[in-house]
Amino acid sequence: MSKNPRHIAIIMDGNGRWAKKRGLSRIEGHKKGIARIEEITKAAVEQKIEVLTFYAFSLENWRRPSLEVQGLMLLLKKFLIEKRELLKEEDIRLISIGEREKLPKSVQKELNKTEELSKNNKGLILNISLSYGSRQEIIRAVRKIAEDAQRKKVKINKINERLFSKYLYTKNLPDPDLLIRTSGELRISNFLLWQLSYSELYFTPKFWPDFQKSDFLEAVDDFKKRNRRFGGLSAKKNN
Ligand code: FPP
Repeated sequence: MSKNPRHIAIIMDGNGRWAKKRGLSRIEGHKKGIARIEEITKAAVEQKIEVLTFYAFSLENWRRPSLEVQGLMLLLKKFLIEKRELLKEEDIRLISIGEREKLPKSVQKELNKTEELSKNNKGLILNISLSYGSRQEIIRAVRKIAEDAQRKKVKINKINERLFSKYLYTKNLPDPDLLIRTSGELRISNFLLWQLSYSELYFTPKFWPDFQKSDFLEAVDDFKKRNRRFGGLSAKKNN
């Protein structure tokens, strides 16, 4: 059985350790990390993946030293401007999930503009998680459902998994089939907790700045060999 994953999510971890090993600043590690995004995105296009989600900045990351946060925000802004060309060439649509109102105004502006410019592209959906936390996303959904129930827009006995999913940032996306985490850490770190319920997990010891196209293809191949049962006895289609 070799079924292509529709949606791959990636936790890009290890930029800091990659830099430390080389006596460089953490920001240098993040710069190297950003450079990897384009290579992996192109590989995903080639592999006909529908959605590629990167965990770029978590809500918890706001607690990092302000110089690192500022550096990351600058890199992000640059990324959003510079990649417009690539999005156009490769017919990629860029979207973002997370609490974007917490991002600096100038970053919000470039994010909105890049989303707007690429909104009619029909190829890969490149989803960047920014200022994102999964528990917070779930609480936000619960609040919105409660409000809608109060306004009689939702009947309480009609709340089910399908309806709940519609209140998440990922409402229009299929659940990830495959989650990749680099740097040898074996955890989910508050990422897509609801959406990853039945995802296949793939961990590699490589730091994100060392993660190349060949590593990505290896992860996709590994996924294709897995037997997904979704709690049943044989493979079943997701979404
Ligand atoms: C993990 O490395 C990396 C992050 C905090 C997020 C990844 C960010 C980038 C690749 C750059 C920003 C992305 C965009 C799209 C602008 P770490 O710092 O946690 O590494 P460590 O665990 O070795 O310290």
